[in-house]
Amino acid sequence: MLVTRPTGRTIEEAGASIRAGQLVAFPTETVYGLGADSTNARAVAEIFAAKGRPAFNPLIVHVASLEQAATLAELTTTAQSLGAAFWPGPLTLVARRRAGSPIADLVTAGLDTVALRVPAHTIALALLRAAGVPIAAPSANRSGHVSPTRAEHVAADLGDRVSMILDGGACEHGLESTVLDVTGDGGGVRLLRLGAVTAEAIEALIGAKLVRATGVGHSASGDGLPVSPGQLLNHYAPRARVRLNVESPVPGEALLAFGSPVPAHDGAMLNLSPAADLVEAAANLYSGLRALDDTGATSIAVMPIPHIGLGEAINDRLARAAVGRLPERS
Ligand code: TXA
Ligand code: MG
Repeated sequence: MLVTRPTGRTIEEAGASIRAGQLVAFPTETVYGLGADSTNARAVAEIFAAKGRPAFNPLIVHVASLEQAATLAELTTTAQSLGAAFWPGPLTLVARRRAGSPIADLVTAGLDTVALRVPAHTIALALLRAAGVPIAAPSANRSGHVSPTRAEHVAADLGDRVSMILDGGACEHGLESTVLDVTGDGGGVRLLRLGAVTAEAIEALIGAKLVRATGVGHSASGDGLPVSPGQLLNHYAPRARVRLNVESPVPGEALLAFGSPVPAHDGAMLNLSPAADLVEAAANLYSGLRALDDTGATSIAVMPIPHIGLGEAINDRLARAAVGRLPERS
């Protein structure tokens, strides 16, 4: 079976597949990952081929512990305290690669930094132990598609490219990890991607304001390069047109609702969180966008989402969905 129920035996098999250079999709607490042995450049190349992803996009390396992360990258004191506070969990740290690190250059897209994260999901951790190698894994969707939060999403996008999909049900957060650049010598931390850990939680730990290198667009340095290549505009694009902050949908438009009451509508409707809970809304975001897109609607109206806490990351993803679109339905 391609979509596999995780048991001790199937997780061992999945670990062996990773070691043999194959791709295994697995659940994390954020979204499903498309995993390969990060020390095997050929296997990593298969990730790019399967996703159809621009080759300059570096991948996150998943490890089992902070100790293992420290063998791969030089972690500053600040980086270590962030790891100690938020790992295992939905935080990714971009740090300087150690000389002689076994991570394939293709993983880091030739950069002298590497993105590391210890996932909290028990199946992800069990797979890391079974594989015995750090696992490079971007979200398990085709490039430009919405990130997968269920095994069925992975099967729909990449079913013909993976050796196995470990089915862990729906992902808890439904939003990718927060990415921080912790290469700064002075302990400075830059926010590269908004995600499941809020900026407020990080600022509370480091006792300083985060420098935000995010937003829809390009780096403030004016070099024309995306700050974090995952910030490409078309990263989260459904086929339908996406309209944001809509109070009243137009006839025939699908509605992605938030809170109650829901305005009058005659198209398909899904509510991210009837109780207006941002954590619940984040967990439902991608599956909701995907389900409404799958109805064939040409336009999806999204109700306003408050720009606080996780709402900031949700609005970031929605802004990308609104500007970056796949080719129109014919
Ligand atoms: O929640 C997640 O992070 C999921 C799950 C599977 O763990 N993974 C994920 O990976 O979202 P991916 O490849 O879709 O996103 C990786 C992000 C991108 O924004 C990428 O540009 C950034 O991390 N990144 C990776 N290495 C980097 C580096 N050396 N410098 C700057 N940004 C980096
Ligand atoms: Mg992705």
